[in-house]
Amino acid sequence: MDVYTCIRTKRDTRFYMDTPIPEESLRRILQAGRMAGSSKNSQPCRFVVIEDAAKKNELAACGHYAQHVPYAPVVVAIVLSGNGWDFDAGRAAQNMMIAAWAEGITSCPTSMHDADCARRVLGLPDGYRVAIVLPFAYPPPSGPKSRGLARIPLDDLVYRGGWSDPPRADE
Ligand SMILES: Cc1cc2nc3c(=O)[nH]c(=O)nc-3n(C[C@H](O)[C@H](O)[C@H](O)COP(=O)(O)O)c2cc1C
Repeated sequence: MDVYTCIRTKRDTRFYMDTPIPEESLRRILQAGRMAGSSKNSQPCRFVVIEDAAKKNELAACGHYAQHVPYAPVVVAIVLSGNGWDFDAGRAAQNMMIAAWAEGITSCPTSMHDADCARRVLGLPDGYRVAIVLPFAYPPPSGPKSRGLARIPLDDLVYRGGWSDPPRADE
């Protein structure tokens, strides 16, 4: 799959098979996160890999919409040092999800609404917080790849040359 197709077809899937993720694939996913640039190369992200079923359940209980998390064989929490930018975590997260999808492994960024709960479950030291949690799994061969929500049309999204009414295709 070429990069553009990979980006265009990546959707956030919440239905997972329990097929294990090969160790080499997990390593590539983590490397993809590692290679994301960061502000001033501060490298504020750390990755906590969770495969233990009980821990995945505990982590899922820290989010309001995280019911799918325990069903994924591998869950990666992207952790930021206190002054790290969420943008840096976002870059690492998207790199990981795209690298995974290139191998047919799906994911869904999942928020930890109770930050203290997530810190406790992951055993984070002071000064670290969870930016986002990424469950990784193979998707079922049939069934929804995502909720399939539409994107804003490009013509309504892009302003060329400055913020003004974008030209419409039918004008
Ligand atoms: C910062 C962030 C937090 C998100 N948190 C959750 C979440 O807690 N639970 C969930 O099911 N999806 C979560 N999502 C996934 C979004 O719902 C998803 O990106 C959006 O619906 C588009 O999905 P699609 O690409 O499959 O259309 C989150 C996405 C982002 C970027």
